[in-house]
Amino acid sequence: MSGSPGSVVTRYAYDNIVAMDSARETHSPVLLEETMRFWVTKKDGFYIDLTLGMAGHADELLSRYPKASCLGLDWDFKSLELARERLQKWGTRVIVRQANFADIGNILENLKIEAADGMLFDLGPSAYQIFKGNFGISYQKDEYLDMRLGGRETMSPAADLLKALTPAELQCLLTDFGDLPGHLAKKIAGCIKSAAEPPQTTGQLVGLLGIVSSNRRIWARVFQSLRLVVNREMENLNALVAAIPGCLRPGGRAVAITFHSLEDRLVKQAFKKYAREGLFKLLTPKPATAANEEVRSNPRSRSAKLRAVEKCGAKS
Ligand SMILES: C[S@@+](CC[C@H](N)C(=O)[O-])C[C@H]1O[C@@H](n2cnc3c(N)ncnc32)[C@H](O)[C@@H]1O
Repeated sequence: MSGSPGSVVTRYAYDNIVAMDSARETHSPVLLEETMRFWVTKKDGFYIDLTLGMAGHADELLSRYPKASCLGLDWDFKSLELARERLQKWGTRVIVRQANFADIGNILENLKIEAADGMLFDLGPSAYQIFKGNFGISYQKDEYLDMRLGGRETMSPAADLLKALTPAELQCLLTDFGDLPGHLAKKIAGCIKSAAEPPQTTGQLVGLLGIVSSNRRIWARVFQSLRLVVNREMENLNALVAAIPGCLRPGGRAVAITFHSLEDRLVKQAFKKYAREGLFKLLTPKPATAANEEVRSNPRSRSAKLRAVEKCGAKS
């Protein structure tokens, strides 16, 4: 069988490789149309993008709705600088802050902002952070095993975490945050902890994982579980979700885009609870997902799930 890009059989794989390469260059916002549909309720509203990243969603909002304004947060200083550059053309319609979204209540108070018409959080790392940012979160690049995306002063790098954990603690981390079966988590933890030197780089960690399994999905889960713990991602998401009711006006909406089952479960349960309590209306009984075309052009969208809720009460 010919392996040329033109052959029918290889066409799909070739398209995927090309798409992956371009995703490395630029971060394409996922589920853009669906996000705009759920996030925006008032053309002249005030919106919060809690995970600004490369500002793909925020830029689209400000260009589609010339009277809308936006507060954008990201805790990664490097991403924030790129976003600030991209958004500066919108002048005073946009405020950009380096912050952890878990602090959204205090941030609004300090800015003397009462509430917003919409909140968006598009979780996980951006393509920039995976491929260009030297964060050590990808098994595809050999660099220091850091993984801290924000708040470097208060967090320990993944290399230090791996050194400090006992084999049993590491096994728990891999099952709880990587969803790995117990026997596999035990094997991986044993292999990492019995190495002559604790891994200091992503390449060294991949070398150890390769002893246990050649399955890259398993490597990805190990990397994901370490990233989640280093950045306290689930704790931060919990705090953000708890703050949502106090940050939105009646009629305002919260839109969440998640990329793995732990995040999705947390958001789904919280949104359902708010709906049961009569605080919010559930807008997505089933999550919105990317169409085949988007998955082909932006492979990162494959696992994206969008859920949205609307705050109940009289609209102003
Ligand atoms: C997937 S990217 C967002 C991409 C963005 N929607 C776009 O279109 O370019 C997620 C961003 O959220 C940021 N982030 C993750 N956790 C955060 C937190 N707790 N507080 C603030 N920013 C966070 C990451 O640094 C990353 O830049």
